[in-house]
Amino acid sequence: MSSEKDVVKYEVVDGIAWVSYNRPEKRNCMSPAVNRRMMEILDELEYSDDVSVLVLTGEGTAFSAGMDLKEYFVENEAKGLGAIRQSQREAYGWWKRLRDFYKPTIAMVNGWCFGGAYGPLFACDLAFAAKDAQFGLSEINWGILPGGGATKVAVELLSFRDAMYHSMMGENVDGEKAAQWGLVNEACDSDKLKDRVIEVCNVLKEKNPVALHATKQAVRKVSEMTYQNAEEYLVKAQEAANYFDNTGRKEGIKQFIYEKTYKPGLGAYNK
Ligand code: ACO
Repeated sequence: MSSEKDVVKYEVVDGIAWVSYNRPEKRNCMSPAVNRRMMEILDELEYSDDVSVLVLTGEGTAFSAGMDLKEYFVENEAKGLGAIRQSQREAYGWWKRLRDFYKPTIAMVNGWCFGGAYGPLFACDLAFAAKDAQFGLSEINWGILPGGGATKVAVELLSFRDAMYHSMMGENVDGEKAAQWGLVNEACDSDKLKDRVIEVCNVLKEKNPVALHATKQAVRKVSEMTYQNAEEYLVKAQEAANYFDNTGRKEGIKQFIYEKTYKPGLGAYNK
């Protein structure tokens, strides 16, 4: 018997947590139940020793067709402002949780990706798409602006002209165009997408996890800072990282300078 929990599924294989939107019959649009379940799953996975990398993807033909226009909008609006605000907190809550997630995160965009789905797409550190995936800010097609962070995602990731065109025209772009625009890192043939993501996960798994967390946080934070503030933040961030792991960098230097067992220019030190 299916339950509310089934709207998202996950499994952990070889250090990779595969988290999938699991409403393929509704093109994985995000209902309040999806949003609540995602938060629970992030809670379970974030500090689990079995998990080194998290991959977010979707079952069936969609990554996610954005917000559930019926359950998220119409039904909550009928209940009133309290319900609207609660469902916004639930959606934005897990997207923020994903942006701040301790482990590296990858969006594997297997198909349709619309509107609200740009929130979790941007929340993931890296993104890989099938060449035939379709991306769209379709909000304008049903008469609203791209909210829930989607306009911000477009402006953060695209050029001014592309962000404006994408938001105003309501036209979709495929995975290859999304990669050219910088909405995703790469586009792959759909039958090679998972292998490519596993390859990237395996590289990340070799890195020092404390340094990886400090790095991904630094990339997000410094984009909002002046150069001077970024310099100072990065000194403090490294010192804070040393509190959690002060052996990694020493080991890296030892293996390169004294033991000559690896070269940092060519790969990670042996953990
Ligand atoms: N909200 C609610 N239901 C949805 C959504 C959605 N975002 N997307 C799909 N569904 C439902 C459909 O209503 C349909 O339900 P039904 O079987 O009960 O009739 C089912 O999912 C399958 O959808 P189809 O349209 O039949 O699937 P198809 O593969 O032909 O088309 C597509 C896929 C293009 C993604 C289409 O479903 C679509 O345009 N969806 C809406 C995309 C969108 O604009 N999302 C909102 C973005 S704005 C925001 O997120 C704030």
